[in-house]
Amino acid sequence: MRILIAGGAGYIGSVLIPRLMDRGYGVDVVDLFWFGNNLPSNVGVLHKDIFDLQTSDLAGYDQVIFLAGLSNDPMAEFSPSKNFIFNASAPAYLAYIAKKAGVRRYIYASSCSVYGYTENKLFDEDGPVNSSYPYGISKLQGERAVMQMVDSDFSVIALRKGTVSGYSPRMRFDLIINTMFKCAMRDGVIRVSNPAIWRPILAIDDAAMAYSRAVEANESLSGIFNIASGNHTVGEIADLVKLTVEETYGKRIALDIQHVKDVRNYKVSIEKARTVLSFHPDHGIKSIVRNLIDNIEKCNDWDNPAYYNVTVLKELESSRAIAIPALALEEGARK
Ligand SMILES: NC(=O)c1ccc[n+]([C@@H]2O[C@H](COP(=O)([O-])OP(=O)(O)OC[C@H]3O[C@@H](n4cnc5c(N)ncnc54)[C@H](O)[C@@H]3O)[C@@H](O)[C@H]2O)c1
Repeated sequence: MRILIAGGAGYIGSVLIPRLMDRGYGVDVVDLFWFGNNLPSNVGVLHKDIFDLQTSDLAGYDQVIFLAGLSNDPMAEFSPSKNFIFNASAPAYLAYIAKKAGVRRYIYASSCSVYGYTENKLFDEDGPVNSSYPYGISKLQGERAVMQMVDSDFSVIALRKGTVSGYSPRMRFDLIINTMFKCAMRDGVIRVSNPAIWRPILAIDDAAMAYSRAVEANESLSGIFNIASGNHTVGEIADLVKLTVEETYGKRIALDIQHVKDVRNYKVSIEKARTVLSFHPDHGIKSIVRNLIDNIEKCNDWDNPAYYNVTVLKELESSRAIAIPALALEEGARK
């Protein structure tokens, strides 16, 4: 099977791709390499914008996975207009040309951020979606656009992931557990913006497992799936990060608890993913922190700007490297 992964050079793709290759799949990546290239050397690479792809570029692939776009709230809020183009239009355009090229399955990187602010309810995929901020709105737009392309020849699976954490060869320290771990190690203190807020957390290895389950699911399967390793309050996450660092290094870590208002608060049910995809997460918070500790030598240059998505986006903007792309035309359209 041949799989094309858009945005495959990012944080999740850099863990997922070796896993898919181990399972015998042929993988190519289309990416703008905003954060560099940490992929295995035998991955096929197209250094291109999704909007520069044409239908013919998709010919011969069995499946396409979308992992691209602006992948967090600070990026989306820095440039809401680009957020809507890269997060809503790009997945729709890619699914459209993939379907036209005869690709059989499209897997979309959705997000639990579509649920917005909710009080004490466990959401399944049929629950209301209600985000008021650009990232959540655009992820839902992308999801809705690609889901309505499903038919008997084109399967679409959307994975609504919780906040991913753990080590990746393309590292990020702007994700909740990774940030707390960095602050504990670098400063000896974990800042908690609001201990009452709920978040679904997803270990990066569980995220990669969810994608491989989706790739291998029965070919008639389409649908939306919540994907998380567990639901936790931010206060509990901080306690578990602190405990694991203290147990490993024998040093005291302080907590700085604040009560800042948040627009996101939600917990999700993963029953559908368990029952339909055979997704059974294997990692909790302590195991995510141990995974970071095991790889600490590879990423303890804590302030490397490449680890912070919004910093890279601001640099790209100031060098005008992400102008809205010259949009591709279909073959023959210029004649
Ligand atoms: N990381 C998380 O916690 C999380 C949670 C839920 C959903 N998601 C979604 O999962 C996906 C992957 O997340 P990540 O953390 O790996 O992201 P990332 O920011 O590490 O990587 C994104 C990659 O996409 C590439 N890219 C962006 N726009 C592109 C375009 N138009 N054409 C080609 N390449 C492009 C970038 O160069 C980068 O390599 C994103 O769609 C994100 O919204 C992530």
